[in-house]
Amino acid sequence: MIQGQKTKLRAIEREDLPTFVRWFNDPEVRQYLAMYMPMSMAEEEKWFERQLDDQNSRIFAIETEDGVHIGNIGLHNFDWKNRRAVLGIVIGEKEYWGQGYGSDAIRTLLSFALGEMNLHRVQLEVHDFNARAIRCYEKCGFKLEGHLRDALFQNSRYHDTLVMGILQEEFKVSKSGGER
Ligand SMILES: CC(C)(COP(=O)(O)OP(=O)(O)OC[C@H]1O[C@@H](n2cnc3c(N)ncnc32)[C@H](O)[C@@H]1OP(=O)(O)O)[C@@H](O)C(=O)NCCC(=O)NCCS
Repeated sequence: MIQGQKTKLRAIEREDLPTFVRWFNDPEVRQYLAMYMPMSMAEEEKWFERQLDDQNSRIFAIETEDGVHIGNIGLHNFDWKNRRAVLGIVIGEKEYWGQGYGSDAIRTLLSFALGEMNLHRVQLEVHDFNARAIRCYEKCGFKLEGHLRDALFQNSRYHDTLVMGILQEEFKVSKSGGER
């Protein structure tokens, strides 16, 4: 368990899979993610089995203080030579959007990744129309690093994908800078 201020991060379990399938089949949630195909329980079970042996990523369940499982957050593509990883997050329970749970979970994971795991850099990609996510990442100290032009085709048109990143020393500054 990794303890945040209003969230805690725990390992995911096989029993969580039906919840993931529900979230990822909700078009309102899925529009912001890289996935675009309807997802079956069988696919999710296969993914979970692969995940157990995967040394290149780690996914955590996000729980509220009173134990409600509202989303997942993960680190992917660990690159130990360059000490970096890619962050992904979804709050699947939509009624929890915009209340500070996402930024708390991100700060909690960044503290673990850039502190305990001693990574130098965490990066992410976000659709250019996902204003809530972009604001949330900025609040957590991520900087915009570039636009991948027309990298996403969705709803009959192309969109840019934004690349954002945070360095170890920047997170220390932003934590002590009282942004939290
Ligand atoms: C993106 C996500 C993780 C953010 O978590 P969250 O708990 O909703 O975010 P927070 O409440 O911590 O922060 C959101 C910020 O965006 C602001 N915001 C909310 N809706 C907004 C909008 N439509 N436009 C601009 N800003 C918006 C909020 O006011 C808040 O900023 P503030 O604290 O300055 O007021 C969550 O909304 C989510 O999972 N969404 C669906 C999946 C997704 O987009 N995943 C990320 C893929 S890259």
